[in-house]
Amino acid sequence: MSAAPRSGNGKVTVPEILSRKSFSPAGAAQSLKKITCLTAYDFPTACILDEAGVDVLLVGDSLGMVVLGYESTLPVTLDEMIHHLRAVRRGAHRALLVADMPYGSFHVSLDESVRNAMRLVKEGGAEAVKVEGGERRIELIARLIESEIPVVGHIGLTPQSVNALGGFHVQGKTSEAARQLERDARAVEAAGAFAVVLESMPRELAARITEKLRIPTIGIGAGPDCDGQVLVFHDLVGLTIGHKPRFARQYADLASQISRAASQFCDDVRAGGFPSDAESFHSSFEAREHSPVRQRS
Ligand code: KIV
Repeated sequence: MSAAPRSGNGKVTVPEILSRKSFSPAGAAQSLKKITCLTAYDFPTACILDEAGVDVLLVGDSLGMVVLGYESTLPVTLDEMIHHLRAVRRGAHRALLVADMPYGSFHVSLDESVRNAMRLVKEGGAEAVKVEGGERRIELIARLIESEIPVVGHIGLTPQSVNALGGFHVQGKTSEAARQLERDARAVEAAGAFAVVLESMPRELAARITEKLRIPTIGIGAGPDCDGQVLVFHDLVGLTIGHKPRFARQYADLASQISRAASQFCDDVRAGGFPSDAESFHSSFEAREHSPVRQRS
């Protein structure tokens, strides 16, 4: 389980994330210290990212595409999310742990949505949930807040709407679409979300939304003026199979390293070079009874 959120122990909390939004004398919003967020889906990655000082670990439903091999995030189930969330929970001590509500877990009724969000908190150990959608999520976000579940909003390119949007395209490119996204951002804030993800939109629009909101914005493909940035872990380290979004900067090439390690292992095994004697166990009984000297006599 995570460190309890006592002041001074370094644990990142919801109020701490909110406090990262500061306001200049002119009234324009400026972040003092940008919020960092990465996705995580398993225990070792959570340990490494937590230790590296990432502020927020997001168990995103991108799980479906980068780990489970689905073509979109739509098939991801609540049980799959909880399974991976529990693994991340065991590795995350300092970072704030946020879990995505997957498609279908908040679309039937408000009561069922709250029950599902509670499962992410009670069974998975999430400290907050993320919900895709703007104005049409006002009631849901308010109900979750009322149930003591902090909420991160998510607007712009919302991958759960891939069929309605007609693909994974940059959003807010016309003035009407931009105005709708501004309304979505204000709605999510008014409903009580403590942060909002802005995905795939022109940087000027993301900057305007960031300036107008009192809650932090966390951008992905939304330019540098957001209060924080989020990336999918597999994009960051070069483990994404298939399409990589243009905005996702790759900081390592783990796919090549893993491939090299695997083929070296195969070569060594086939050549009889692995394992060596030093990598093998010995017993005094075997040495006594079956030593080459005794066998020969
Ligand atoms: O599912 C996810 O990983 C996300 C991030 C891209 C923000 O929603």
